[in-house]
Amino acid sequence: MASILIIDDSESIRDLLGEFLGGNGYDVAVAKDGEDGIDLLKRQKFDLYLVDLVMPGKGGVEVLREVKNLSIGVPSIVITGNGSIESAVNAIRLGAFDYIQKPFNLEALRITVDRALDHQRLQKENATLKKQLGEKYGFRNFIGNSPRMQNLYRIIEKISDTDSTILITGESGTGKELVAKTIHYNSSRADHPFVPINCGAIPRDLLESELFGHEKGAFTGAVSARVGRFELANFGTILLDEIGELPFALQVKLLRVVQEREFERIGGTRTIKVNVRILAATNRELEKAVAGGTFREDLYYRLNVIPLHIPALRERDDDILLLFDHFMNDFCNKRKRPLLKVSPEARNLLLGYRWPGNVRELENAVERMVILNDSGVVGVDDLPEHIRASAGGNGTPRLPSASDTLQSDIRVPAPWTASGINMNAVLDDLERTLIVQALERSGGVKNKAALLLGLNRTTLLEKIKKMGLTT
Ligand SMILES: Nc1ncnc2c1ncn2[C@@H]1O[C@H](COP(=O)(O)OP(=O)(O)OP(=O)(O)O)[C@@H](O)[C@H]1O
Ligand SMILES: [Mg+2]
Repeated sequence: MASILIIDDSESIRDLLGEFLGGNGYDVAVAKDGEDGIDLLKRQKFDLYLVDLVMPGKGGVEVLREVKNLSIGVPSIVITGNGSIESAVNAIRLGAFDYIQKPFNLEALRITVDRALDHQRLQKENATLKKQLGEKYGFRNFIGNSPRMQNLYRIIEKISDTDSTILITGESGTGKELVAKTIHYNSSRADHPFVPINCGAIPRDLLESELFGHEKGAFTGAVSARVGRFELANFGTILLDEIGELPFALQVKLLRVVQEREFERIGGTRTIKVNVRILAATNRELEKAVAGGTFREDLYYRLNVIPLHIPALRERDDDILLLFDHFMNDFCNKRKRPLLKVSPEARNLLLGYRWPGNVRELENAVERMVILNDSGVVGVDDLPEHIRASAGGNGTPRLPSASDTLQSDIRVPAPWTASGINMNAVLDDLERTLIVQALERSGGVKNKAALLLGLNRTTLLEKIKKMGLTT
């Protein structure tokens, strides 16, 4: 129930308003002068106060001023006598929400009161929402301790509050959209919209109208005018997701917006200017599309002002368990169940898996475990089949297989001659290469390198010794 304080020196007005508002379901308190009113406002929380402009001692304007100085965030409505509009306007300048005139039209009074309360509620909701968003897209929920992610945060911090166009690249599920939102909500545009559009998910013939809008009758089916995403994002940020999928024909039009921040709606003649920060994201290698002639080079350079690459999850194994614990916390909290424990074997499997779907895949895997697990402990058998399969199901991490991109790290020499090949020498070479790579990936930690290679620690140590590798 909303609570309202009435500050008026006239007893009959206090009674009249008190009875009327009380009868309309409000919780009403009264004060007989300015001094009393301020005192009550300091001690008690109200949703609104009504204050008479002319009172002996402290008048309405003084009350408004003092409440403002005390930063008590309560909206106010001023009560004025007939004809004192000028001081009422003055009161509004001081921050009063509105004024009502004596003699009262009670219905009008109720509407004004409702409006003031609505306004206050919306403002509060907005503030909470913003705070939640700020928390959600602050760096606190951006998990990652690996040097590469730390480096990424530093760059994001530096570039967020600029208007530079940024091209965010990374495999699917690495967090491109999260990065885009973080940039927006850490910029001075945060109070304005963040508008994402997935250029790959919208049919080609609709995409142009989605982006730029159309006028009524612009094409069959355009029964009314429509505002496009660029206009919706005015003063905010637009994320052109999967930009690599943008049809060639639309690339010229986009180039103009990127360069001039202006365009026309389809079927329109009026040039629309917007103030929008442009972020683009893709999991494709745009350079290749440029080389192949499917993506305009000029657009590519305009978008790629600041490139931001998010490494794949397998390239930052330090983060796997960290993210795992983060999601585990999150899902268990949401489902109000105690944290699941994870057996060391299961952890090893998680560490060794190559996570082609990156953070999203990990997030989904954890959610699944939290939902399906009854025992409170996640063992190897509770992991998704494909994760187990990747390690042969025995709790040891998988070896790189031909389908892995890791393969590209491994150069197998092929010194075939007419008489054949020295297989042992080639295998020794390969073995040495793999061990060196595993040690690099594990930062020299031999236990972890052994896990990565699917060897036990002593075997690895023997090999290192035999090969004379210095570590
Ligand atoms: N560093 C991180 N910390 C916490 N959560 C993350 C992190 N990176 C990604 N996520 C979460 O992983 C999921 C996938 O992220 P997001 O949608 O941003 O990826 P994407 O790169 O846009 O993927 P796609 O290319 O498939 O669209 C989201 O739920 C996101 O909140
Ligand atoms: Mg995305």
